[in-house]
Parts: sequence; structure tokens; C-alpha cells
Amino acid sequence: MKIKWLKLKNFRNYSECFVEFSDGINLISGKNGQGKTNLVEGVMINALTKSPRTSSDNDMKKEGSDISEAEVCLERNYGEVKLCCRISTEFKKQFFINSNEVKKLSEVFGNLVAVYFSPADLKIVSGSPSDRRDFIDTDISQLSGSYYTLLNRYNKVLDQRNRLLKTVHNRAEIEEQIDIWNEQLASLAGHIIKTRKSFIKKLSSPASETIKFITNGADKLSISYVGANGENSEEIKSEILSSLQNNLSKDMELGYTTIGPHRDDIKFSLNGHDSRIFASQGQQRSIVLALKIAELETFEAELGEKPILVLDDVFSELDTFRQKSLYEKFKGVQVLMTGTLFKFKPDEDYLSLNVKEGSVKSKIMQKKK
Ligand SMILES: Nc1ncnc2c1ncn2[C@@H]1O[C@H](COP(=O)(O)OP(=O)(O)OP(=O)(O)O)[C@@H](O)[C@H]1O
Ligand SMILES: [Mg+2]
Repeated sequence: MKIKWLKLKNFRNYSECFVEFSDGINLISGKNGQGKTNLVEGVMINALTKSPRTSSDNDMKKEGSDISEAEVCLERNYGEVKLCCRISTEFKKQFFINSNEVKKLSEVFGNLVAVYFSPADLKIVSGSPSDRRDFIDTDISQLSGSYYTLLNRYNKVLDQRNRLLKTVHNRAEIEEQIDIWNEQLASLAGHIIKTRKSFIKKLSSPASETIKFITNGADKLSISYVGANGENSEEIKSEILSSLQNNLSKDMELGYTTIGPHRDDIKFSLNGHDSRIFASQGQQRSIVLALKIAELETFEAELGEKPILVLDDVFSELDTFRQKSLYEKFKGVQVLMTGTLFKFKPDEDYLSLNVKEGSVKSKIMQKKK
């Protein structure tokens, strides 16, 4: 898939902006604080239904304005799709597909599918389990809106169970009411964990291959899910159900549910050791890079077409060898990458977009013959 153009209106530091992208590599350059990340954020909100860098939608509204819009026009193998996110004081956040407002956020997913990589992604390896769960949930949601719906349903049931644990202190009364929540929670958990495990399986092999390649065979990566055992959703469900029952005293004491997919983790082992603790900063960065390349391959296999690749401020940080190996993986992919300076230019035609104080100037750069 390709993004043909992006239109921003009162979005971050942009009053009005219309940019056409090239089908290949788009280098977005400019000094610090000019609006490079804001530009790709305008793209990403239409892929993720939220910003990759803030949880507050209002942050994206240009200061002093009431309505903000970020619209993209996509070319998919089945035709053209326009996606628009509108953030307004009156309606908060709305999405439109070909000018029709969507009823559920889950309908937005799967239209624009993008692999996004920014310096903050180092937290996928070095951060907390919740950073890793966000990573995998965001990835799967992009491919399947119904997974996003499943997560929402799980979280609602989890809230109900937690409310019961917090408000009722009599064990007999809790036991009388909790079975219904346990049953629903375990069933939803079975599907969530099964989906996460299958996705990790798909990512695992291209990610390990990439690590092997960029470290010349020195490092071996394996990725595993840390949570309930079981291969299919029924097996997982029954394990979760008995853990919920066995942990009731602890959950009552703490006032919340201590087991389930909302507490699970993903383990990245490098040469047999947990990367979060043992891997060096450079090794952690390589693991994230390998994951992103694995995402590209996995998304393509799932979609039947190539996703978009968005690299915010990471490319220039990589050494020449890693930059070259990434360029290899770019073939046929539309890439939007930002940076203050690109020393290593692509060996093909590309579009140069220069950003200055919320305005963009584009120039087609032709490969030197
Ligand atoms: N809601 C907003 N309204 C107006 N301006 C905003 C808003 N949010 C951020 N900005 C401005 O946008 C600018 C930052 O833009 P952005 O993060 O895109 O910079 P950048 O070009 O990516 O810089 P860097 O190279 O440092 O990453 C800042 O000047 C900031 O004040
Ligand atoms: Mg930036």
C-alpha cells in the first residue's frame, strides 16, 4: 500500500498543510522542533487510532484552535481509501472513511497499516511488561479490528471483577458473584493469549534471522510469551480459570486481579539471557530493529501487500551497516523517514521534504547517473 497524500489542518504546529508523497523513499528533514514528527504523527493516528507519542488527543490540536484534522489518501490493491481523524472540542475524536463517520474505532484498523519505529521504541526491550504488551496489542490490532474489540471487552469485564474485589469484603458474598466474571474473563483471555502467542510465533523467525544477519551470526535471539500455558484457547481458558479461583484470597487482599493477559509479558532472550537485563544498549537497539523488520515481513504476509514504513528519527542513529541492511529491506516499500541530517542517501530516486516552522517544501531527487 502507499500513501498518496497527507492533509493537516490545525494539527500541532501546522495551520494548513498538503503533502504528496513518493511511492518509494521520502526523506523528511529539517532542524529540531520544526514539525517533522508532527507530520508523521498525522499519518500514524490514522493507522493506530491514537498518537504513537501521547495519550492525550487534545495535545494534537493546534494551540488555540477548536478543530484539528489529519487526513490521508491511500492506495490499496483494491482501490483508493481516504481516512480522516478529526479532533474537536465538541466531539473529541472522530474518524471518517471516505467521508463516512465510523461508528467504532475498530473499523479504522486494517486500512492504513504501518510499521512505526522511533527512539522511544527501545522501551519494547528495556521497558516494563506493559510496554511490551502495548507493542504486541498495537501490532495485532492493526491487522485485526476484532482483536481490538476483544481487548476492550476483556478490559470491561476485568473492571467489573476488580470493582467487586474492591467494594465487597465478605468472602461468601464475593464467591457467590465472582464465578460469572471468572468465566467470561477466562474465555476472553483464552482468545487474547492464543492470538498473541500465534503472532509472536510469526515474528520470531524473521526477527532471529535479522539478528543473525546484522551481528554476523554472533547473536541468537528467541522470543517467548510469558503467561498462561496452553496452545489453543480452550486449554488457556481452563488454566486461567483455575488460576483465578486459586488466587482469590490474594486478589481480595489486593483489590484487583493479579493474573491474566493484562499482567503477561514477552521475553526477548539474546544468547539465552533476558535482554532487558543482560543486553547492552546497542544490542537492545538491534533487537528492536530486527523486530521492526520482522513486523514488515509479518504484516506483508498477513495483508498480501506491503505495509508503510515510518522511521522517526532513528535512521541516522544506525551505523552504516545497519542503514544498508535496512535499505535492502525497503525494496518496494513506501518509507517515510525523518531526521535532522541524512548522511547516507538512498541509491535510488527519492523525495526530499524539508520542514520549516510547520510548512513543507518537496523536491524530487534523482539518482546520480
Ligand atoms: N498542539 C500544538 N500546537 C502548536 N504547536 C505545537 C503543538 N504541539 C507541538 N507543537 C510544536 O511543534 C514543534 C515540535 O514539532 P516536532 O516534534 O514535529 O519537531 P521535530 O521537527 O520532529 O523536531 P526534532 O528534530 O527535535 O525531533 C514544537 O515547536 C512544538 O512547540
Ligand atoms: Mg522529531
